[in-house]
Amino acid sequence: MEIKSVGVIGAGQMGNGIAHVMALAGYDVRLNDVRQEALDQAVALITRNLDRQVSREKISAHERDTALARIKTTLDISAVGETDLVVEAATEREDVKHKIFESLGPHLRPNTILTSNTSSISITRLASRTDRPEKFMGFHFMNPVPVMQLVELIRGIATDQPTYQACLTVVNRLGKTAASAEDFPAFIVNRILIPMINEAVYTLYEGVGNVKSIDMAMKLGANHPMGPLELADFIGLDTCLAIMNVLHDGLADTKYRPCPLLTKYVEAGWLGRKTQRGFYDYR
Ligand code: CAA
Repeated sequence: MEIKSVGVIGAGQMGNGIAHVMALAGYDVRLNDVRQEALDQAVALITRNLDRQVSREKISAHERDTALARIKTTLDISAVGETDLVVEAATEREDVKHKIFESLGPHLRPNTILTSNTSSISITRLASRTDRPEKFMGFHFMNPVPVMQLVELIRGIATDQPTYQACLTVVNRLGKTAASAEDFPAFIVNRILIPMINEAVYTLYEGVGNVKSIDMAMKLGANHPMGPLELADFIGLDTCLAIMNVLHDGLADTKYRPCPLLTKYVEAGWLGRKTQRGFYDYR
């Protein structure tokens, strides 16, 4: 099945990046959110990021304009059901995702493929609550979406081969590279990355190093583009904690115990860049 149109649910950090790269690759995009303000902010951000690509001569002004023209925003989830491929990129909460797929269900075309950009929730479980588990997959982008090369493709237990192949074709058309992952908690990237971040928070908690020295050590000592605490602020501390909890619950191993300091920051509402305060102060 050829994918021509893509519905993106959720216009936040990941959703706006997904709409951006899909439109640039030539797909007609319907971007949906429950708040008009979120849609307006997403379009403004996509415009800014496309402008940045034009100024760095990565794309032409014409490509920017046609990409923007391909993005239609909507508060009405039924408009998303008319697309060939849906990428759900809403809040990383399982109850929210189930509700979205439930309300989308009656509006779906028979052949529409459903995917979730979840960073850790079971694809099999999400799929089981829809009318088409064989046409359901994990489609996991990395942040910032326009820059990062990887997409994880995760098959649920029931996902069929044509669905996998159709999603792989989309990843290739985006000019990105797919890593195929099995449906286990947090898949590949976050299974490795988030415990490393959690360990960096323990390193801070136990006083082994301060914020600056921990980040500097990993940047200069392991050639990471960002230090782990800076990266935690970038991803969002609430997201990091949610993923640690999925690993802890799903794999029942104390090695995935979230650091109490990470929990405390989230309880304080210090969620990283998006709230202007995390391990660093952005105010
Ligand atoms: N949109 C478009 N382009 C962007 C962008 C955005 N949002 N953000 C940065 N860029 C571009 C810049 O224009 C620049 O392009 P050129 O190379 O063509 O000049 C390039 O990206 C580098 O940006 P900067 O020079 O501004 O900054 P930098 O060199 O410090 O790089 C970074 C910024 C790409 C974010 C880099 O620090 C990095 O790679 N950090 C690690 C990011 C990472 O690990 N992401 C994965 C997080 S985990 C995840 O996403 C999974 C999950 O589920 C939690």
